[in-house]
Amino acid sequence: MAKKKWLLAGIDVGTTKIFTTVGEVEGETVQILGSGWSTSRGLKKGMVANLSETISSIRESLQKAEEESQHTIDSAYVSVGGGHLRGLNRIGKTQVRNADQEISAEHIAEALNDARSFEVPEGWQIIHELTQSFTLDGQEGIVDPLGMSGRTLSVNLHLVLNASAVVQNIVNAVNKAGVLVNGVVMQQLASAESILSPDEKELGVVVIDIGGGTTDVAVYRHGSIWHTEVLPLGGSLITKDIAIGLKAPLLEAENLKKESATVLPASVPPEEVIEVTEVGTGRRRTVSRQLLCQIVQARVEEILHSVNRIMQDAEVQSDLTTGVVLTGGGSLLDGLVEFAEDIVQMPVRLGYPVNLVSLESHLFHPAYSTAFGLLRYAHAIQSNDMATALGEERRRSLSKEKRRSERMKNWILERIS
Ligand SMILES: Nc1ncnc2c1ncn2[C@@H]1O[C@H](COP(=O)(O)OP(=O)(O)OP(=O)(O)O)[C@@H](O)[C@H]1O
Ligand SMILES: [Mg+2]
Repeated sequence: MAKKKWLLAGIDVGTTKIFTTVGEVEGETVQILGSGWSTSRGLKKGMVANLSETISSIRESLQKAEEESQHTIDSAYVSVGGGHLRGLNRIGKTQVRNADQEISAEHIAEALNDARSFEVPEGWQIIHELTQSFTLDGQEGIVDPLGMSGRTLSVNLHLVLNASAVVQNIVNAVNKAGVLVNGVVMQQLASAESILSPDEKELGVVVIDIGGGTTDVAVYRHGSIWHTEVLPLGGSLITKDIAIGLKAPLLEAENLKKESATVLPASVPPEEVIEVTEVGTGRRRTVSRQLLCQIVQARVEEILHSVNRIMQDAEVQSDLTTGVVLTGGGSLLDGLVEFAEDIVQMPVRLGYPVNLVSLESHLFHPAYSTAFGLLRYAHAIQSNDMATALGEERRRSLSKEKRRSERMKNWILERIS
């Protein structure tokens, strides 16, 4: 029997670029049919600062993706970012009172409800609710307790909250560009779906998505998401540092960062110079290349120390056996992997989007991890395989009944537009 095929679209609404991609799902594979890139003109640090500019940037990206894929995009999954995102872990408990002490779907629902029983601050909304694991009478790390026996069931949940207005502005912009929003996905959760293997999530890994406006962090351990955080630091700030430090125009600073900088200034001979235009006068002058690299290194060091602090606060360092995966456009800074290994004291690799069919070489780029990850995330939801969406491959064994309740829950959570 031929496998059912269906279309999916993802829009990564980033601070520096909008990237729309259309994929065709067949079984486990997502074939990329077309993509469209545009400069993001209306966002600051992942949040809408100018609605009309945001809408026109989204439209431009959509139009290109539609042309390339030869398909009209009616609805899409959309990434959300910004400094308002907050991740928090909650524990919920329930007592099993029936004589046979068998855990039913109701017990699981009770534990989940208990974990959710807190007051969401006014003006905020939950955008993700991800089950980490269950504990039964002190036995930790249970993936699916249905049908097991015990007296006390508890569940660990990871919730992601965002300021409602931030989410609504992104949703409005996409709607006004003519597309319905199927669901919103935190940027780093989407990126993780395209760059991580299930083994990395199981063994413990940190995703660091260095974008233009923000650096988005996601920690996975024991197969599920454990911590999420957003740092208000990104590649645009590094460009600004260069522009200020060398008194250069922003566009030139951006090019210098990509073409002449390394985060390892000690590797640059002290006599090496670069030509820079002086902002205001337009005068050309030479400055030390080492100075450029020192400016870049200082900000990157700040970002990496912040990541270290996040890992310490989350008390996960000893669980991260596969180390760090860097992605996002900012991860392409020369020398970054080596420098990061030195600071985080763990193995570091670059994360490129994988697990997709027909990815042309120019699309195999860390800046596109979020957009392609959106398709993988959507695929997991739409094929009712909550396991991948929850970052828990092992949850494939969910019973039919529980699958239905998980699906409903996710449906409600993801249908926020
Ligand atoms: N080769 C490179 N070397 C250094 N930096 C680079 C390179 N290529 C892109 N960048 C930087 O990557 C950043 C953009 O990355 P990306 O496209 O992932 O951001 P975004 O998704 O638009 O932003 P955000 O995720 O913060 O909303 C820019 O600051 C850009 O200067
Ligand atoms: Mg991004």
